[in-house]
Amino acid sequence: MAEYISTLEKLTTNPPCDPTLRKELHGKARSALYALESVHDVQTRIFFGPVVLSGAVIAIDMGLFQALSEAPQTVEAISTNISGDQVLVRRVLRLLSSTGLALEDSNGKYRATHMTSYLTNPAVESAVKSSFYLCLPMYVALPQYLSDYRYCNPDRADHNAATMAFNGLTFFQRLAQSEKEKTWFSQYMAIHHDGEESCWKSREISEYVSRIPADGDQVLMVDVGGGMGHQAFAFRNAYHRQGRIVVQDHESVIPLTYTEAGIEFVAQDFFTPQPDAYKNARIYYIRNVLHDWPDDKCIKILEHIGDAMGPNSVLMIDEKIVPNRDASDRLVFYDLAMMCIGGMERTVGQFKKLLHGAGLKYESTIKYCKEAPDGIIIGKKI
Ligand SMILES: C[S@@+](CC[C@H](N)C(=O)[O-])C[C@H]1O[C@@H](n2cnc3c(N)ncnc32)[C@H](O)[C@@H]1O
Repeated sequence: MAEYISTLEKLTTNPPCDPTLRKELHGKARSALYALESVHDVQTRIFFGPVVLSGAVIAIDMGLFQALSEAPQTVEAISTNISGDQVLVRRVLRLLSSTGLALEDSNGKYRATHMTSYLTNPAVESAVKSSFYLCLPMYVALPQYLSDYRYCNPDRADHNAATMAFNGLTFFQRLAQSEKEKTWFSQYMAIHHDGEESCWKSREISEYVSRIPADGDQVLMVDVGGGMGHQAFAFRNAYHRQGRIVVQDHESVIPLTYTEAGIEFVAQDFFTPQPDAYKNARIYYIRNVLHDWPDDKCIKILEHIGDAMGPNSVLMIDEKIVPNRDASDRLVFYDLAMMCIGGMERTVGQFKKLLHGAGLKYESTIKYCKEAPDGIIIGKKI
């Protein structure tokens, strides 16, 4: 017993730096935690799941993460600095501390954990708000939707838990109506792969891309549904290749995007044919788009890309790939989120079916990330 406790204390005070080891230990520790759980613990985990998210939104709004990341402070000092009620500040800090988002030390001061400053990043704040105000209402609607739909696998883009939660609007229609929510979501997308290796840094993908020729006038890469262009910037910075780089997204999103040297932003609905100017690009890259949509819509998107592809174009579908077994919690949580909008996370076999349905051929899959199930499915014209 003393040995278990000493190992756990060592891990808490001095966790290893190596990310692979950390990930493995985290997985094992979580399995141990589940194995140790009492009825009381499982009640706490399930009944109060959304409380952590709610507490994070409150802490952001009150400026508590910011205050904690500046210096260890007493409740009195924090309350004065943020002009908050002392009783309330103490209650919220207790919540943060009990959920690992702050630390309470023996001198009665609260201080940052190794993650607190991450939570002060404005894009991370947006991700928290997006999860709370946009995703949570869909999770609440999902059980009723599934029951109404007689437990068929949700496969409708126009009628799903999101449309139930948002008075008939789809998730993307809802975003298009609110500048604030659209900004939260776009910023969320820019950081949701934080902590994972970028696909462009992977040796296999770099080698693959380096074999794709392009010259200055040619479109080298079109990032379809590329949001704020974060993947296109990363591509440009990783490779410094000749050729034009284009980011396409819905017209409601494009005005949000930065203008950035060497990147062209274009309003383009991916359910419509590619304009001539973007035909025959060397690479059509599409990340985390297909998982938003049911199969019939994915096939439409891929057909339009396929029609634009020339004999030497490649399609790179960058998505989470569901393994045959032992899917991680993060992956299945994403899958449930996608279920709310009629989409899903897919296996390689399911991606092959989509390619086939769009008249394209499957070439290979490159798994590029040790930390996550993400990979690139390569497709070509038949
Ligand atoms: C889950 S986000 C992924 C964004 C980006 N590719 C990434 O990986 O971070 C899906 C993107 O699809 C875009 N989108 C949704 N409907 C669209 C449409 N009809 N035409 C073009 N883009 C659309 C959204 O605006 C959003 O940027």
